[in-house]
Amino acid sequence: MPQKMEQVGFVGCGEMGSMVLTAALQAGVLDPARTVVAERNPDQRTKLSGLGVQLVEFPAELGQCDQIILAVRPQQFAEAVAEIGADDHGRLVISVMAGIGSNTIQTAFGENTRVICVMPNAPVRVHAGMCALMPASQATDEDIAFGQALFGTLGKTVILPESNLWAVTALSGSGPGYLALIAETMVEHAIEMGIDPDVAPILVAETMAGTGRMLAETGMTPARLRAAVATPGGTTEAAINSMIDEGVQQSIRRGIQAAHDRGETLSGG
Ligand SMILES: NC(=O)c1ccc[n+]([C@@H]2O[C@H](COP(=O)([O-])OP(=O)(O)OC[C@H]3O[C@@H](n4cnc5c(N)ncnc54)[C@H](OP(=O)(O)O)[C@@H]3O)[C@@H](O)[C@H]2O)c1
Repeated sequence: MPQKMEQVGFVGCGEMGSMVLTAALQAGVLDPARTVVAERNPDQRTKLSGLGVQLVEFPAELGQCDQIILAVRPQQFAEAVAEIGADDHGRLVISVMAGIGSNTIQTAFGENTRVICVMPNAPVRVHAGMCALMPASQATDEDIAFGQALFGTLGKTVILPESNLWAVTALSGSGPGYLALIAETMVEHAIEMGIDPDVAPILVAETMAGTGRMLAETGMTPARLRAAVATPGGTTEAAINSMIDEGVQQSIRRGIQAAHDRGETLSGG
């Protein structure tokens, strides 16, 4: 790990920050002796106290960190920047803040700052996340490799241009919500059809997880998988034809577009 000797600082280490920190320490991507965490919430500091990293209250106490992981809430960004201070030397800032672009971060810290924005999704909680890394133009290959190593401990990573921010937010970012809606509907109907309410969620969750794994691990396209399971004249085909007749594809497309457009609106874009 080339950056292992560098000093890494976390600014804000709540739900998301602590997931990244814990997984990266466990995987050996971060060295606890070279990791400093600035977290102002005393309860959160107590939770992190067994990890072997240096814990401080204020970002001003971070010292000279070459890489900063910024994991405060978007509305806490300006305050955090003021406390961290300007960047005279040129460091890497990796941000997981939703809706704050690399331009804003670079303007706040100074032109020497290299920025990578990351869009994680909910399954990072079970280390099956999908994290999109969007490096700004100043980020080096080494910076990107470090970001991939760090977020790779929480699942898979992809590199995308920042122009894809709202599209990727609408896909992998919000996607777990869409799949949860489908799962919720399937479970409700399974129970209505007489399946044990304790068993129905297992059937649905495992069907979703298994289908996702097939798509991810076999390289099969969704269209091929659908054709493979829908025998002509069979049950799956009957369901799919009914769903298509009801406009499910347009409904999914419109929903994804709504998420994309909402993101642009919220960011003032
Ligand atoms: N959680 C997710 O699933 C998720 C998913 C995707 C992206 N994100 C992004 O991740 C970021 C963090 O979200 P989160 O859910 O982890 O929030 P969180 O649990 O509230 O964590 C933020 C932590 O940072 C601390 N903090 C804020 N300003 C600080 C400062 N100036 N100095 C030191 N500590 C400071 C907060 O302390 P206080 O409690 O005292 O404010 C809090 O403990 C957000 O920008 C969000 O958009 C989160």
